[in-house]
Amino acid sequence: MTNRILAKRELAPQITLLEVEAPRIQKRWKAGQFIIIRPLAGSERIPLTIVDSSAERQSITMVIQAIGKTTKEAVAMEPGQALCDLVGPLGEPATINTGQEVVCMAGGVGVAELLPVAKAFHEAGSRVTALCGARSDSYRILDEELMGVADVLQWATDDGTYGFAGNVVQLLLSIAGPGTFTEGHVIGPIPMMKAAAEATRGWGLKLHASVNPVMIDGTGMCGGCRVTVGEEVKFACVDGPEFDAHLVDFDELTRRNRAYREMEQEALKHDCHIGLG
Ligand code: FES
Repeated sequence: MTNRILAKRELAPQITLLEVEAPRIQKRWKAGQFIIIRPLAGSERIPLTIVDSSAERQSITMVIQAIGKTTKEAVAMEPGQALCDLVGPLGEPATINTGQEVVCMAGGVGVAELLPVAKAFHEAGSRVTALCGARSDSYRILDEELMGVADVLQWATDDGTYGFAGNVVQLLLSIAGPGTFTEGHVIGPIPMMKAAAEATRGWGLKLHASVNPVMIDGTGMCGGCRVTVGEEVKFACVDGPEFDAHLVDFDELTRRNRAYREMEQEALKHDCHIGLG
């Protein structure tokens, strides 16, 4: 059976890891790429970053935060069941350069999405400092896996129950300044990515942001995932999801995601399948 769930693990409250049989995607994916899944026939489609894979088990791994109707449907599924649809790998791989002094920053479930990128930088011979944020100690995820690929791993928790008390950007500012890092990757909530971009403007740091607009078809046809990057209009599903963080219009991204959220409320009444999670 294709798309069969092989394993399921709760990483933290509302955050679940699913390992799914996907031999063709497993062979082709690269760090930073994503898939679109539809858990059940009546579900919406949602984009999820590919977190890991196993050639031996012909599988890929995804991490899902159960916050909306579809994500809750996905995490309610059990090993042995199969996802209705699974399409990928989609998007462009992350920019991975060798011999760099790299800072990888993530917040919330973005920590799972950061793991393959940090691993790819590590394997390319760059030195990786991973700065990860969580609401609280009990919400930290994939700590052991990150330790295996990062030269330095530091956590920030909002309530100070583990590591630095504060957010990831405050943690960054407490340990680094202009010239500390040459390259970076940030993924997580939009305000966090925007703050990371603002904080590092003028540092000489090439910072890549993996953005998360609403996606509908994932093929560049619908225009749903439009992002303004500098003077250009891009589509996150085919041109991204990674863009130069210092050029992304995060305010527009916030407005667009908010507008779609209102539409989702309407769509739910009419059984329209757009992917908001
Ligand atoms: S999701 Fe439709 S253009 Fe990107």
